[in-house]
Amino acid sequence: MILVTGGAGFIGANFVLDWLAVTNEPVLNIDKLTYAGNLQNLASLHGDARHIFVQADIADGKTMAQLLAQHQPRAIINFAAESHVDRSIHGPEDFIQTNVVGTFRLLEAARAYWSDLEGAAKSSFRFLHVSTDEVFGTLAPHDPAFTETHSYAPNSPYSASKAASDHLVRAWHHTYGLPVLTTNCSNNYGPLHFPEKLIPLMIVNALAGKPLPIYGDGMQVRDWLYVRDHCSAIRHVLDAGKLGETYNVGGWNEKTNLDIVTAVCALLDELRPRADRKSYAEQMTFVTDRPGHDRRYAMDARKLERELGWKPAETFETGIRKTVQWYLDNPQWVASVQSGSYRDWVQKHYSLEGSA
Ligand code: NAD
Ligand code: DAU
Repeated sequence: MILVTGGAGFIGANFVLDWLAVTNEPVLNIDKLTYAGNLQNLASLHGDARHIFVQADIADGKTMAQLLAQHQPRAIINFAAESHVDRSIHGPEDFIQTNVVGTFRLLEAARAYWSDLEGAAKSSFRFLHVSTDEVFGTLAPHDPAFTETHSYAPNSPYSASKAASDHLVRAWHHTYGLPVLTTNCSNNYGPLHFPEKLIPLMIVNALAGKPLPIYGDGMQVRDWLYVRDHCSAIRHVLDAGKLGETYNVGGWNEKTNLDIVTAVCALLDELRPRADRKSYAEQMTFVTDRPGHDRRYAMDARKLERELGWKPAETFETGIRKTVQWYLDNPQWVASVQSGSYRDWVQKHYSLEGSA
């Protein structure tokens, strides 16, 4: 059995579904079910004995210790986090609590559990921490992509909290010998992505006839990876990653935000044309920039490709088409997750009327 934290969120749920489709190994899924956690994401596993769900907080060390002792997993994959940069600007406290304190408590529970293991169970145990390219800070236009040895320079409360968690994981290996692995991935997209993030927000706002808010000049660059390719990268690292090492994950798909929104609008024009036959691109609206907005991220994933034989299965073109189609096919999922007073802050801060 493996233990997955945050398995009701976007990447965690895709990972659990993917894992059970390609292996037969049971998953203990621990998730606090914050606004971002959604058990509907896992509805297809209802009644599947290979999936055990427990609602709990990774910062609750006692419960983590009890669950480890009870279920005896061979690995922990830590997805649980507060993940949205705008929310971290609006209110950083939850980010410190879950991403820093939560990771610390989970590491301590894992260390106690692992210390008591013996033989093969001890030597094969793994703690895989899922992190982000944002810990490296921002790149200038012609800088090479981030490698694993790039220095950390996080710029937002979110990325600072993730950087802190990465450092804790590193230190628990160096000091206590805990068998850890860390992945740092670029921007994911795909099904089950909460519609506060760029791609799903643009799809749902476009279909609702609302403005498509583009922060600043829209020329910020992100490196996009289809979520199931991130899941396969994590499986590769869990299977064969070298203890204590970090692996960059990315799709070599650098795009400006304007490129992304234009691509989404073109697909919607093709798949669900507006009643007036005008392009959804007419809904694009430039708004105030995000404070401290990083200009460019790009990941050099050659270590993972070379050493562990990982390759993404999707190009941006195939992945974004699947994604837009998924949102068109699942309007009830969108309706059920759209809420939250935090949107009032977004509307006020980014000086936009009528936002989702
Ligand atoms: P998400 O916000 O969609 O999901 C996070 C999940 O964690 C939710 O189910 C939530 O309920 C759960 N959670 C939050 N706090 C918790 C706590 N204290 N205890 C237990 N569960 C808790 O996030 P995501 O986009 O799926 O990201 C998952 C992980 O991958 C995060 O660690 C994030 O930093 C990292 N990451 C995300 C991306 C991306 O593009 N989304 C890219 C690289 C890395
Ligand atoms: O790079 C990996 C990171 O990608 C992950 O670690 C984070 O968890 C994940 O949320 C994501 O962070 P970003 O800040 O890059 O994602 P977001 O979708 O919020 O924004 C993508 C870009 O689009 C960014 O430059 C801000 C811009 N943007 C975003 C929104 C929501 C807009 O222009 N308008 C918007 O309405």
